[in-house]
Amino acid sequence: MEITSQDSLHNDLHLLKLENFEETFADTIEQLHQSKEEWTFSHKIQRRWENTYVPIDSIPAAREILNLATKAASKVFGRSLVCIQGVERLIKDSFWFNLMEEGHSTGWHNHKARAHASGVCYLQIPEDSGKFRYRDSEGTVHCHTPIQGTILLFPSTLNHSVETSESDQLRISMAFNLYTLPLRLDPEDDPFGGNLFF
Ligand SMILES: [Fe+2]
Repeated sequence: MEITSQDSLHNDLHLLKLENFEETFADTIEQLHQSKEEWTFSHKIQRRWENTYVPIDSIPAAREILNLATKAASKVFGRSLVCIQGVERLIKDSFWFNLMEEGHSTGWHNHKARAHASGVCYLQIPEDSGKFRYRDSEGTVHCHTPIQGTILLFPSTLNHSVETSESDQLRISMAFNLYTLPLRLDPEDDPFGGNLFF
């Protein structure tokens, strides 16, 4: 799996296109389903768990995606970024899955609590399963139609949301946060608390 192209969109939003991703994505999705007993969740909104967390050891195929994205993001944002894996007790929000069924959506939020950059990898994107919306610095809303086999990178301050899925097939993406060192570890800091949704 490798990056074939990189386009810049609004607001320091970058689109990476991958090739030879099929096997890695299939393994990741299979390991995700196999590890169901270990799933933990953030919070339920409109009858859906927003974030599904899986220990990295149970989903080793995801490492390749996260490592590739971290390297690319360090280049794009011009600083050394790390993706924290394997210390879920310290940092829970390093990566997670978004499983969206028909009628599901994700409200407006950002990831700015601790991270420097964030991203999302589109693992399984049925048609009409929800566009990625984001606000530019003037507050204008833009839409990006996700494509399987791509990764979006953006500053963690970017306000974004996902439209309602109108597909009867499951939409699966993997989101992640990337950090600068030294890490800021604040146990009171809940990056996906309700107060971040607006
Ligand atoms: Fe997000």
